[in-house]
Amino acid sequence: MSRTGKITVVGAGFYGSTTAQRLAEYDIFDEVVLTDIVDGKPEGLALDMSQSRPVEGFETKVNGQTTGPDGEGYEAIAGSGIVIITAGLPRKPGMSRMDLIGVNAKIVRNVTEQVVKHAPEAVLIVVSNPLDEMTALAAKVSGFPSHRVMGQAGMLDTARFTNFVAERLGVPVHSVRTLTLGSHGDTMVPVPSACTVDGKPLADLLSADEIEQLVERTRNGGGEIVALLKTGSAYYAPSAAAARMARAVAEDSGAVMPVCTWVDGEYGIAGVYLGVEAEIGATGVRRVVERDLTDSELAGLRAAAEAVRAKQADVASL
Ligand code: LAC
Repeated sequence: MSRTGKITVVGAGFYGSTTAQRLAEYDIFDEVVLTDIVDGKPEGLALDMSQSRPVEGFETKVNGQTTGPDGEGYEAIAGSGIVIITAGLPRKPGMSRMDLIGVNAKIVRNVTEQVVKHAPEAVLIVVSNPLDEMTALAAKVSGFPSHRVMGQAGMLDTARFTNFVAERLGVPVHSVRTLTLGSHGDTMVPVPSACTVDGKPLADLLSADEIEQLVERTRNGGGEIVALLKTGSAYYAPSAAAARMARAVAEDSGAVMPVCTWVDGEYGIAGVYLGVEAEIGATGVRRVVERDLTDSELAGLRAAAEAVRAKQADVASL
């Protein structure tokens, strides 16, 4: 089997390190680079992951690199075709993702500047929170064409929704299709009209109230885990989602996924980074895929667009 390309994960917290591990275990990349500002942490984790290769049976090289405040060490990412930005603080119990905007904007700006310098051809996948705003900021700071900058949220929110539906109905997760659009936050827009179980509409199997309860749990899905963990936030499902997006880019697969991307006229919405379905390939987002929404879903998506548009304008000056 041939392995190609180099992919970088910036940030070796739980989200970043589990993402790096998943990418390495795919065994499709030549090299995974993991970076962090904590001295020795990415090198240590990369060494540990490398030593799992004979057991798990993958050949991808994993290299760690500590980076300094003025970009020292970033030369290690040179030639990366994909860079996943996980850098930033996670939430504490009781915090909203938006509470992180000031501190994480500085971090994401700094990281993006270094990525542009050392991996100017990369597709960027942003996962730092607040997600929609950090994606918009990375796009602005990078100056990359908008299709080369996307954010991970819809894959995760949709996975949570699917898991809740499968558990509620006692069916395998692979029987269930769900969808969430909009922002990765209060204006997340679950799309019940796109939800099916073995091809049957979810609305035939659960009452509107029952669906709404699952929708609400999905909307608070990250916060529920933060409250349980008490320190840090979710990372198994988030890293699975980010790694799959990266894989779709690496394999130029054309998979349609809900992602945070630049919307320019679709759904009557323009000029904002927002969660919609998109076809993912080697160039990043090939195109936004529009689907029929009910009037209330469309209204929800437009409200989400206006909410994130206002915040994305603020973030440009942070
Ligand atoms: C969550 C964080 C990663 O939703 O945004 O768990």
